[in-house]
Amino acid sequence: MTQKQDFTSTIISNRKLTANFYEMELEAKRIVFNAGEFFQISVPGHTLRRPFAPSFSDRNSFRFTYQLVGEGTEDLSKLLPGTKLQVIAPLGHGFTLPPKNSTAILIGGGCGTPSLALLASRLQAENITTYTIIGARSSCSVLERETLSRYSNKLIITTDDGSEGLHGNSVEGLKSLLKEITATDTELRIFACGPVPMLKGLSTLAKNKGIKAELSFEERMACGFGACMGCVIKLVCPDNPEGYIYKRVCHDGPVFDSREIYW
Ligand code: FES
Repeated sequence: MTQKQDFTSTIISNRKLTANFYEMELEAKRIVFNAGEFFQISVPGHTLRRPFAPSFSDRNSFRFTYQLVGEGTEDLSKLLPGTKLQVIAPLGHGFTLPPKNSTAILIGGGCGTPSLALLASRLQAENITTYTIIGARSSCSVLERETLSRYSNKLIITTDDGSEGLHGNSVEGLKSLLKEITATDTELRIFACGPVPMLKGLSTLAKNKGIKAELSFEERMACGFGACMGCVIKLVCPDNPEGYIYKRVCHDGPVFDSREIYW
């Protein structure tokens, strides 16, 4: 596991992407982490840090996308380059890189999409065939279109309102893609990040098709490192009379094998 660090970082840029999504780039020297792991970042004037999964990183900086969902992210969006923030990183468990001869299917929904851009870049570096599905409400809210297109053998966009790509959700997109690639002789692996209903739909389809899927959950987090129990989800546990146990998304996830989830 990568060593966790608590460091001060300077904002390089903070720009608006769409009506309610922003992207921030922060300075960070040589931070090593797996795609899907997350960072806890301070917001001046707020006690709790906020969790964000990077969409890009190199030897000098990292970027993440965030949605305006409350006072904390509203205040974050007003910060100017040069502002210093406290960062704890990396946290949690990320995605597992699949074997070389496998085929990866990445599926992102809403603000879960950007973190898959980092995974896509790492899969390309490993020469792993990658198909990507982006699910969005409409064409104007599709995130990381260019990056995911560049790193994918094929990009499918689905929109709820039919304004771009396939009219429907990302589960429909996956059904459509699987019809095209059933002839493949490589092992398929699904990697997804997005809202829980989307993850549940993908999990059911993956189970029916016998495809291994890793799902990244976006629970609200307080402490971010396992102390407050504010981010629990249910995992299957046949030994318990209830059939499940609680696990912390920040500590035991945020990425879980779909077969572990008690829906
Ligand atoms: Fe505190 Fe997960 S956010 S335990």
